[in-house]
Amino acid sequence: MVEFTLPKNSRVTEGRLLKASPDAKRLKAFKIYRWNPDDGGNPRVDTYEIDLDACGPMVLDALIKIKNEIDSTLTFRRSCREGICGSCAMNIDGTNTLACLKPIDEIKGAVAINPLPHMPVIKDLVPDLTQAYAQYHSIEPWLQAETQAPPDAERRQSQEERAQIDGLWECILCFCCTTSCPSYWWNGDRYLGPAVLMAAYRWIADSRDENAGHRLDALQDPFKLYRCHTIMNCAETCPKGLNPAKAIGNIKRLMVERQE
Ligand code: SF4
Ligand code: SF4
Ligand code: FES
Repeated sequence: MVEFTLPKNSRVTEGRLLKASPDAKRLKAFKIYRWNPDDGGNPRVDTYEIDLDACGPMVLDALIKIKNEIDSTLTFRRSCREGICGSCAMNIDGTNTLACLKPIDEIKGAVAINPLPHMPVIKDLVPDLTQAYAQYHSIEPWLQAETQAPPDAERRQSQEERAQIDGLWECILCFCCTTSCPSYWWNGDRYLGPAVLMAAYRWIADSRDENAGHRLDALQDPFKLYRCHTIMNCAETCPKGLNPAKAIGNIKRLMVERQE
């Protein structure tokens, strides 16, 4: 029989409220998704109150303050603190973004923080990106060329050739776009998603790479590429201002052109 209700252990429950000290002046509440696979409990939302006068300006500053001063069990990824490593990607106030680039002041009311959506969760705000990284590996994200590089020199590009990979190489693989894409939510096992497809196009568009034909062959598949329906969530959410949908459109155009 078809079951229409969620299993009990998937319901998110109200968690603890950890209040700031009474002398705190500029209070802000952070409502944070918590789940620990080892305690057997349901996911819950814990609320932490913070004095913004004693905290840095970004959401990541608040998370680090909570972990350092209030609750060391809170688990999240972060490294660079300046939008370079992509590891602090999470859903903040309903949008996938980087915690280190998201100013707390931009959020009205309590700050809701959840893991990237539609990914398995390892713990708290840490998504399991195993599948996404395997898909990234599948597009062979490295330069492939039979021609030997000139001795004692790099492979040269003209300024025009170099410009072809602008808007592509800047991707930090945070997967904010992929996890905002409805096509990836429903077909993530077979559709490669915007981040990986943009990475594939980054190598196809690179004049130094000599394997574009092989790369396009590998994407000629009803699911890997053609599940993109140009919904554009990816471009809207990218914290680096990139446009994966445009890159996907360029791959589709090349597929058509090579059949003409
Ligand atoms: S444009 Fe394509 S890749 Fe981007 S969100 Fe929409 S379906 Fe996903
Ligand atoms: S395109 Fe943007 S959102 Fe997607 S992985 Fe790259 S940096 Fe992140
Ligand atoms: S900590 Fe590196 S991108 Fe946020």
